[in-house]
Amino acid sequence: MIFESHAHYDDKVFEEDRDMLLQSLQANGIDAVINVGAGIDSCKKTIELMDKYPFIYGAIGIHPSETGKLDEESFKWLKESCGHKKTVAVGEIGLDYHYEEPEHSVQKEWFERQLGLARDVKLPVIIHSRDSARDTLDIMKNLHAEDLGGVIHCFSYTKEIAREYLDMDFYFGIGGVITFKNAKKIKEAVEYIPIEKILLETDSPYLAPEPNRGKRNSSLNIPYIAEEIALLKGISYEEVVTVTHENAERLFRVR
Ligand code: NI
Repeated sequence: MIFESHAHYDDKVFEEDRDMLLQSLQANGIDAVINVGAGIDSCKKTIELMDKYPFIYGAIGIHPSETGKLDEESFKWLKESCGHKKTVAVGEIGLDYHYEEPEHSVQKEWFERQLGLARDVKLPVIIHSRDSARDTLDIMKNLHAEDLGGVIHCFSYTKEIAREYLDMDFYFGIGGVITFKNAKKIKEAVEYIPIEKILLETDSPYLAPEPNRGKRNSSLNIPYIAEEIALLKGISYEEVVTVTHENAERLFRVR
């Protein structure tokens, strides 16, 4: 069975058929999902989803693009929500320099504070890092993120950067981008990263793999991602599914 390590089923694009879609996952070979918070509202909806569906776990955290709205009161609420018995990670947190806002200093401050939160509540982290490879690594090394453990979600950097994360014993979330024709850099990185350090993810509703690129994504598309990883690593599809499931159980401490 497939472990989906990163989805956003709280998103409003699932409003019409969310329950039907989620109820269909197990029959399609997906037996665990981590719904990942991005803002305060999405964290609240994540908690509703983990309370409603036995196979859904949650990550609680604020995406770098949403950090401009954070304050002490909501940070306190985040910490409380990390105490939920099905919260398995702090995330997604990190840095995103693709857009101008929020200012880098604001993103860095809340990234550091949420790494500290993960340390306080003893949970691994789910890292979002876009166009910010060096700063992300510097902060993680300074704050000893290797003690926390975690995953670099939607890994999109080179194998040289991958090596630095491997040195910190981190995992790599691999999603739909791996199936894109022009994804040469990421394909090289996946060839290099040991299968024992890879997690399957979709980032639904975003980043649907080929042949569904551009459409609304869901965990039902994970087989396309697992097939591509199997091809790149010269192992069977079943091995990719089994090993990545064990990896996710180990990292997030769920069974
Ligand atoms: Ni995400």
